[in-house]
Amino acid sequence: MKIIRTINEMKQIVNEANNKTIGFVPTMGFLHEGHLSLVKEAKKENDFVVTSIFVNPLQFGPNEDFDEYPRDEEQDANHAKQAGVDVLFIPAMEEMYPKKMGIKIIVEEGTDVLCGRSRPGHFDGVGTVLTKLFHIVQPNNTYFGLKDAQQYAVVHHLIEQLNFPVKINGLPTVREQDGLAKSSRNVYLSDIERQEAIFLYESLQYAQKRVVDGIENPDIIIKEVTNMLQEKTSGKIDYVELLSYPALQQISTITEPIIIAIAVQFTQARLIDNILLQPNGTKIDRL
Ligand code: PAJ
Repeated sequence: MKIIRTINEMKQIVNEANNKTIGFVPTMGFLHEGHLSLVKEAKKENDFVVTSIFVNPLQFGPNEDFDEYPRDEEQDANHAKQAGVDVLFIPAMEEMYPKKMGIKIIVEEGTDVLCGRSRPGHFDGVGTVLTKLFHIVQPNNTYFGLKDAQQYAVVHHLIEQLNFPVKINGLPTVREQDGLAKSSRNVYLSDIERQEAIFLYESLQYAQKRVVDGIENPDIIIKEVTNMLQEKTSGKIDYVELLSYPALQQISTITEPIIIAIAVQFTQARLIDNILLQPNGTKIDRL
């Protein structure tokens, strides 16, 4: 595995790749099995795999955890190598943003809900950094986790509407044994919060059961999930939403594929989770 830190070197490798297919997994590091599942899938489907690690300041709000975002480059390099990454691209801040960006991507679709509403400008930052990364890495395929289902939908629009020559793949959320979605931010949960955090996925599974039971009114499901989270966790609920997916529109009856998504703010970590369902309640794991 090569570790590359400059855009020029990265471009040179891409130029030398000729007809080989490139699979790309963008990350912010502190790699865990969720990230590595994307790498393993990319490895299966491409001649070589590029993973980037860059904690992108543009997607963090002023009061968010940019400074505290966990970082461990040595451990990441070991994990990446074991999972089969061929090129680990770790640009420094000055390499990606040598000066203040005078141009940015503004995402207007699908951002007035879920994390887009609670984190204004977040998806503009994601869209801007991915535009740069797609241009630098020029992948054939790119891999995203459905844990961040709104991000998947936004990146899908970005690729489609700006005609990036790359195919996006959405892969299942990797979970701990007790169901908690793996996240770099889980390390910031206290022991008690870690126990409580299992109720994020429990509440989503309960919601799925209710859809399978035939409940078609989103409000009933939202209320039940909210009650469960309030009862079982000490965290502050940021949102519980049920929307059409991937359009992310409010709906009054469940007659199309949906997302049920939640965000809970614990003392030092904001956790998100979601479940994607067919209108009959069957889970959608992959896109
Ligand atoms: P990051 O949070 O590091 O996530 C990188 C990729 O890993 C994303 O596609 C995310 O959905 C996926 N991922 C995270 N946890 C996962 C899990 N438990 N199961 C499956 N996949 C999981 O998302 C970002 O970084 C950034 O916004 C980025 C796209 C790199 C742009 O800066």
